[in-house]
Amino acid sequence: MLSNRLLQIAMLVERNKVVFDVGSDHALLPCFLLENGICKKVYAGEIAEGPLNNVKEAVRRKHLEGRLIPVFSDGLAKAPDDVDVVIISGMGYHTIRHILQNCEAERYQYFLVQSNTDVDLLRKYISDSGYTIEDERVVFDGFYYQVIRFSADLHEPYTDLQIKYGPVLLKRRDEVFIAYLKDRLDKLKRINECANKPEFDEKISEIEKILYNKSM
Ligand SMILES: C[S@@+](CC[C@H](N)C(=O)[O-])C[C@H]1O[C@@H](n2cnc3c(N)ncnc32)[C@H](O)[C@@H]1O
Repeated sequence: MLSNRLLQIAMLVERNKVVFDVGSDHALLPCFLLENGICKKVYAGEIAEGPLNNVKEAVRRKHLEGRLIPVFSDGLAKAPDDVDVVIISGMGYHTIRHILQNCEAERYQYFLVQSNTDVDLLRKYISDSGYTIEDERVVFDGFYYQVIRFSADLHEPYTDLQIKYGPVLLKRRDEVFIAYLKDRLDKLKRINECANKPEFDEKISEIEKILYNKSM
């Protein structure tokens, strides 16, 4: 069964788009998109031979010839011209930035990115590139993950607060986002009981202001 993290990413893919899943590994997400009729064609990109063989095995086992297409590629270097949507998930910020820096973002309708580390740095990269954050989700799957949908459409730089917490998340304030903030707040308070550092006090008061809607 698909993890909640991958399921929530799949939910952000509009129907009938041609998707390129960068770093597909076992091709779990592409198979789900195809088998649930969300997509008719998905490219599963991989830089490593072992995972690429997993993709080829999935094509054979699930009879997805011509619909699930393995591509040996560093990031989007070998992405075909008909790709609409790019997914980059389950990797660290530095790998994701390397992939984004080496592609022509304007070629694609939108990206769905989920970084396992430094989500704020990823938003800063998006902001510094002048791109637009179109949607965001916090997902709980043992840990809290954040999924960002962005496009290369021009946008003015985001504020520091938006970069840290997400412009769409701050606006929408949905249940999972609030639970995530409360979790962060509890952890910071516990650490600060021992550390007692001014920078922790600042973070705590920043999160409390967002949670309790005080003016910032
Ligand atoms: C941890 S798996 C993530 C699998 C899946 N995307 C997910 O979200 O669960 C990371 C995969 O990305 C691949 N990978 C890492 N860097 C890559 C790059 N520059 N281009 C393509 N694939 C890459 C690795 O070989 C590995 O299979």
